[in-house]
Amino acid sequence: MKDANTLIEYGSTIDAKTMVVPPDVTELELEPGHPGLGDSEYVARRKSLFTLCRRHRLERLGPPTIDYTAEETRIWREVSPKLHELHDQHACSIYLKAKQDLAITETEIPQLRTISERLERETNIHLVPAEGALPYRTFYEYIAERGFPVTQFIRHGSHPEFTPEPDMIHDCLGHVPPLMNQDYAELLTLIGKAAATTQHGEQVLALKRFSWFSIEFGLIEERGETKVFGAGILSSTGEIPHALFSTDVTRRPFVTETVISTDYDPSQMQKDFFIAPSMPFLRRELETLVRQFGIPVL
Ligand SMILES: [Fe+2]
Repeated sequence: MKDANTLIEYGSTIDAKTMVVPPDVTELELEPGHPGLGDSEYVARRKSLFTLCRRHRLERLGPPTIDYTAEETRIWREVSPKLHELHDQHACSIYLKAKQDLAITETEIPQLRTISERLERETNIHLVPAEGALPYRTFYEYIAERGFPVTQFIRHGSHPEFTPEPDMIHDCLGHVPPLMNQDYAELLTLIGKAAATTQHGEQVLALKRFSWFSIEFGLIEERGETKVFGAGILSSTGEIPHALFSTDVTRRPFVTETVISTDYDPSQMQKDFFIAPSMPFLRRELETLVRQFGIPVL
């Protein structure tokens, strides 16, 4: 890939510099059409969690303990059993084992502080409180230091199965369990180190796509069956059957060169999926890519 000032992301032209110098968002912004926008109580709750989690992130205090409301617990209890049933059938074994080991239940929203301590003992990964979706490069600067940014707010109750942004259900039921696996933890850390080190926007974009089609929307081969390990799939009752069975999508073997040149649209149901043969395969592929890019992190 050659260096360029403009890149294509989500179908539009972007300035390569934005991939390297991320913007900072200092106040809560709910996007147009967000289901919580007209609900003043929800917005006030989100603002207070935004301030609390941002302070804990910037001051490196670890995830704050949250006193979840009855409404937030109700949403968790509505969504997590439905996901749990789908996970039992379709999630990869790494995920299922980890979810059990972390004792994530359908009844209580877990405290990320406790989970972070457990992860630290297992794979030396800790959780970093995030006030919302962080810019990609900021996100990977934490990951480079073996910290995984996680949100602690819950989606709006009017649409319990939908969220336009990553929330606690996406992060805790999608991203967190696989962090118990050493290969997954090392894969993620290397993406973080490489993305946080390179000064080339197009390399950051390539790493972002590698991550999107693995960490976020990856499928994996297991004993002749296709299973799910991507967090974006695992945290959505719609994406699990869509990713595995829809006839409107492509499911191709994970070939790095193809993956890093495939654009995607995060606001839609996904239409391209890649199936990795194993987690160690992904680690090796990533190491080869990072060497090829000449990023000095190995
Ligand atoms: Fe995610």
